[in-house]
Amino acid sequence: MKEIIVAPSILSANFLDLKNDLDITEKSLAKWLHFDVMDGHFVPNISFGSAILRQVKGYSKLFMDVHIMISDPLKYAKEFIDAGADILTFHYEALKSDEEILQVIKLIKSNNCKVGISIKPDTKVEKIFKYLNMLDLVLIMSVEPGFGGQSFMDNSLNKIKELRLEIDSNKYNCLIQVDGGINDITSYKCRNAGADVLVAGSYLYGKIDFSSRVKKLMGI
Ligand code: DX5
Ligand code: ZN
Repeated sequence: MKEIIVAPSILSANFLDLKNDLDITEKSLAKWLHFDVMDGHFVPNISFGSAILRQVKGYSKLFMDVHIMISDPLKYAKEFIDAGADILTFHYEALKSDEEILQVIKLIKSNNCKVGISIKPDTKVEKIFKYLNMLDLVLIMSVEPGFGGQSFMDNSLNKIKELRLEIDSNKYNCLIQVDGGINDITSYKCRNAGADVLVAGSYLYGKIDFSSRVKKLMGI
């Protein structure tokens, strides 16, 4: 039975007491920390940058799962890798060509960082099949990127199933991550569809039963 990885998104954390939220996260079964970078251009919201990542990395032992929702991943990738990203996931829709996508993948890998591609709800999952042999992870957005606390979009489930089939039939070594509106109900659907990593922000942070909620997302 595969173990589901839970990646709490600190976008929903309390930044006035971030150390406490990081301690709570580390005390749970969550092994990753999902770090949502937003530039106010690719998505209509601005979050935080590499300086915060550097401080968080210096304090926490969690695996830094950095999700860059930015228009120029080529320009900023190395900055986030140097600040401590363990995996850097950029958006397919932020690039204009196959060449640009391959350039970003190559840059991230050549800096000894794991690499993921994220697709928005309206992007067909087949679009990224050609990169699967180079990727460590594919992030299926189950909400429109930009904000925490949105509702899960059920049409993500077919994308997860299609991707699961493509990865398994080709024996690729690529994780399926789902992000947006993940809770005790939607996590069950995502696990059954074949997800490996579940991101959750508003379902976890600010809740007194953080640890037991993480277990619920893992199905244990
Ligand atoms: C949205 C971010 C998500 C978000 C998840 O653009 O990529 O990671 O923080 O928050 P919830 O779990 O509250 O939907
Ligand atoms: Zn995210």
